Amino acid sequence: MSEAILLVGGRGTRLRPLTVNTPKPMLPVAGVPFTAHQIARAKAAGVTRIVLSTSYRAEVFSEYFGDGSSHGVELVYVTEDSPLGTGGAIRHASAQLRSGPDDPVLIFNGDVLSGVDIAGLVRQWREADADVALYLTRVEDPRAFGLVPTDDSGRVIAFLEKPTRPEEIVTDQINAGCYVFKRSVIDSIPAGRVVSVERETFPQLLEGGATLIGVVDPAYWLDLGTPAAFVEGSRDIVSGRIPSPALPGTPGRCLLLPGARVSRDAIVAGGSVIGDGSVVEAFATVDGSVVFDGATIGVGASIVGSIVGAGATIGAQTRLRGAVVGDGAVIGAENEFLDGARVWSEAHIADCTVRYSSDQE
Ligand code: GDD
Ligand code: MG
Repeated sequence: MSEAILLVGGRGTRLRPLTVNTPKPMLPVAGVPFTAHQIARAKAAGVTRIVLSTSYRAEVFSEYFGDGSSHGVELVYVTEDSPLGTGGAIRHASAQLRSGPDDPVLIFNGDVLSGVDIAGLVRQWREADADVALYLTRVEDPRAFGLVPTDDSGRVIAFLEKPTRPEEIVTDQINAGCYVFKRSVIDSIPAGRVVSVERETFPQLLEGGATLIGVVDPAYWLDLGTPAAFVEGSRDIVSGRIPSPALPGTPGRCLLLPGARVSRDAIVAGGSVIGDGSVVEAFATVDGSVVFDGATIGVGASIVGSIVGAGATIGAQTRLRGAVVGDGAVIGAENEFLDGARVWSEAHIADCTVRYSSDQE
């Protein structure tokens, strides 16, 4: 038996308004809640029991996943009364673990899509007799992440979470949001208070001489924390660039969920998803976008690299480029929302009201 903790308690503020009612990991990515992809990948790597560490809107998870039996794993839930931070959440979840003190426990950030070799990470943790093994990836600009420099033998020498001073940018290796902890190390985290595993636990373990190893895996990696990354991740699963056992269907140029209705004269491409009960009318284009359930894309509308929330209506000839439209919003005809524009849930925008113009156009 192999156990894991899945951290799904964050607020997901960068994906507002979509996360006002739905926790970020439950937003539909390639047709199913993102957490379903993570559970499927963990199961494929031999994980049999997962503790879901929730705080915000916890019931949304248990209503969907239940005891996990329909997903082939045993799921148990822990909920924080108020958010305890990543380290506090891990410590809190420990009460539900069954592993012995020397056993490995996998920990996953709940918003990372990756092709990491999970079983290989556990193997390296074992071979190094490590306290913690951290999955690392290389990125061009590491400043928004945890920087993890390692020595020649792969031992972690520092952990610098979202550093602000230029002299702290010492590596392009970042914490990719998946760890193997020795169970007893989890129980050394202080209980009952807010703890950041990145800012407090890792630096303290290093200071105390614990063995932390970093395993750089060049596999696909994406943090789905921003709207642009969210649509990219969904696109990459739909197209098969990153395979997921939870994809409802076969990889292809788009995913039409049961109950989606797309006009013969519409174009849906670029790894887009059209949700259950959604309608795409004639001459509309949906490219590289995610349309949640029950939405309507009007005649001749153009939706590119955007997210359309559940039950939202996009009027005829309206253009969205890199935009997020909240659940139930109604946008009239001939509007234009570009470059990170967000429309709040249930907002009503009349015809011909918003138009973006720039010198280039
Ligand atoms: N249960 C619980 N309680 N979960 C939490 C809490 C909490 O108080 N706070 C955050 N989480 C969960 C989030 O839901 C998410 O799945 C994970 O912990 C990480 O939190 P994020 O808010 O997404 O952090 P980040 O993306 O800014 O940075 C983290 O991930 C990077 C890689 O994607 C850090 O771990 C960085 O070091 C790392 O590079
Ligand atoms: Mg994140």
